Amino acid sequence: MSSESATSERVILITGASSGIGAATARHAAAAGWRVVLAARSQERLQALAQELGGPARALAVRCDVADWEDQQQMVAAALESFGRLDAAFANAGFGGARGFLKDTVEHWREMVLTNVLGAALTLRATIPALSEARGHLLLTSSVAGRRVLPGSLYSVTKHAVTAMGEAARQDLHGTGVRVTLIEPGMTDTPFFDQRPADALLGEDIARAVMYALSQPPHVNVNEILIRPTAQQG
Ligand SMILES: NC(=O)c1ccc[n+]([C@@H]2O[C@H](COP(=O)([O-])OP(=O)(O)OC[C@H]3O[C@@H](n4cnc5c(N)ncnc54)[C@H](OP(=O)(O)O)[C@@H]3O)[C@@H](O)[C@H]2O)c1
Repeated sequence: MSSESATSERVILITGASSGIGAATARHAAAAGWRVVLAARSQERLQALAQELGGPARALAVRCDVADWEDQQQMVAAALESFGRLDAAFANAGFGGARGFLKDTVEHWREMVLTNVLGAALTLRATIPALSEARGHLLLTSSVAGRRVLPGSLYSVTKHAVTAMGEAARQDLHGTGVRVTLIEPGMTDTPFFDQRPADALLGEDIARAVMYALSQPPHVNVNEILIRPTAQQG
């Protein structure tokens, strides 16, 4: 089916949907009529959200550790089994770390790189066949930190990799009809932060940007959306 199909038939898969930006985007997409596939590791939170968004006919909760290729393949298989198509995939799962190359543990670094970089790449790999069939839309959550380098921040390095991944995917998918959008949020008030920031964006502010990119006509490919809170300088 093509991306011109009625919105009520369209399906979006979102990783990192159990919280923050991913959960807010799932709510906005569902409100706009999309069927949603919600992926993350926290099954109970996903199931509660799937119930809120209309239950099995409209929303599917799938446990997936994005760093695990088997999980990613099963996630896409479950999406196709339930809904028969995939029109958009939002590779959004990720987490941060302390600034300073002597901070955090090596294990934290390993998990962060595997989640933020390999995890996003595996989501692309798992979803591209179905997205190509639908002439669909791929979105990735990078960051302001994927546009400017932050001192001692391996997190910033992972997000530069995601920024590069989005452009690499856009060029790779040229000719397939699949559009690619990088979402680059500034400080956003989500559980990403142990201490919640003041004067920050909200998850729903980012969700609206995702919906803007998704709602363009097929010939418009919104490649990047960089959004800071008005109060953020750097
Ligand atoms: N908040 C900000 O200021 C900000 C700014 C720029 C970019 N971002 C990016 O935005 C994205 C979403 O973050 P957020 O702010 O919404 O934070 P959040 O509320 O902590 O959400 C992070 C999401 O990622 C999921 N996740 C983490 N590791 C995972 C894994 N291995 N496999 C599957 N899911 C995993 C979490 O679910 P489970 O724990 O249930 O798996 C959760 O749903 C991240 O990529 C983050 O880097 C955030």
